[in-house]
Amino acid sequence: MPQDIKEVLLSEEQIEARCEELGQQIDQDYAGNAPLLVGLLKGSVPFMAELMKHIHLPITIDFMDVSSYVGTQSSGDVRINKDLDYSIVGMDILLVEDIIDTGHTLSKVRTLLYNKGAKSVKIVSLLDKPERRVVDIQGDYVGFTIPNAFVVGYGLDYEQKYRNLPFIGILKEEVYQ
Ligand code: IMP
Ligand code: MG
Repeated sequence: MPQDIKEVLLSEEQIEARCEELGQQIDQDYAGNAPLLVGLLKGSVPFMAELMKHIHLPITIDFMDVSSYVGTQSSGDVRINKDLDYSIVGMDILLVEDIIDTGHTLSKVRTLLYNKGAKSVKIVSLLDKPERRVVDIQGDYVGFTIPNAFVVGYGLDYEQKYRNLPFIGILKEEVYQ
């Protein structure tokens, strides 16, 4: 599997160190609060697992699985494959994602969470590819800004594979040609 990788962009050590920094920032910003971390399945799983170890507030966690349809403009247009387990009325949400690409997914899910009664929704993303942005949305906490390349590992997939790689790598072109 690592033989399909052209270049390691971010090592496990780099990612862990950055998660520690993000955790410190979140601890400071949410001091006295207990945000709910909402991870978007499946890509956010390794990042969320690492990040939450570095948050020392009495957080709770939940997961959602959504399909976002590109080409539709309305921000509520997202199919929920797995919904949240509990009510989020009045809660401060940290929405955890693997990557912000066009921005469609996060923008739609954020609207959805506000419609469910969230008090605040902030976005935490391991990666950000700003060159690809279509929707005007920014991460509140971003691990790394990366160039416009297709990356896999640390939760990110190509055809559902490579999520278990402990690093972020650029896939060789011949793998998806
Ligand atoms: P957006 O709605 O375009 O921002 O899409 C974000 C989703 O697209 C992410 O949750 C990923 O599943 C997927 N995605 C975007 N770029 C990449 C990539 O480079 N590698 C793997 N998946 C990606
Ligand atoms: Mg995804």
